[in-house]
Amino acid sequence: MVLGQGFAGDLAAGDLKLEEGAALYAENCAPCHGAVLEGQPDWRSPGPDGRFPAPPHDETGHTWHHPDSVLFDYTKLGGKVIMARQGLEFDSGMPGFGGSLTDQQIHNILAYIRSTWPEEVREMQAERTRADTENGDR
Ligand code: HEC
Repeated sequence: MVLGQGFAGDLAAGDLKLEEGAALYAENCAPCHGAVLEGQPDWRSPGPDGRFPAPPHDETGHTWHHPDSVLFDYTKLGGKVIMARQGLEFDSGMPGFGGSLTDQQIHNILAYIRSTWPEEVREMQAERTRADTENGDR
């Protein structure tokens, strides 16, 4: 199994949560966000259909700029619903997975994504999650 190469610290044998997250990522997210979380080319510019390509989930993207709650909601509900909540009409290429994945599965995928980040990036994102939780809006 190639799983865990380079991420050995976190994907220690027996960590079922991360293993399941990685497998679910490969199946559900990799087609757009890339097998090694690299995203699609030119992800910062909209394509001819006006939709944005899928951004990388590695540390070169902006996934880690968001607290866990935002990542969870975006994955569960999809881009269109999240933007509509903020009053924005947005044609998103990011589908919602609430109908096909359980909350726990989504948490496991996000745990896997986080486990691939370098230590300092993980700390910065954990800090944003703490600040978000302390603000008490979720
Ligand atoms: C059909 C292509 C597609 C698939 C499959 C897909 N995404 Fe996305 N995703 C996108 C696009 C495109 C965006 C860019 C934002 C937008 O247009 O809404 C995005 C944005 C996101 C974001 C918000 C941006 C960020 O970096 O924080 C998260 C989180 C995310 N995706 C997680 C996932 C997860 C987890 C999966 C698998 C369960 C997944 N995506 C599967 C296309 C996809």
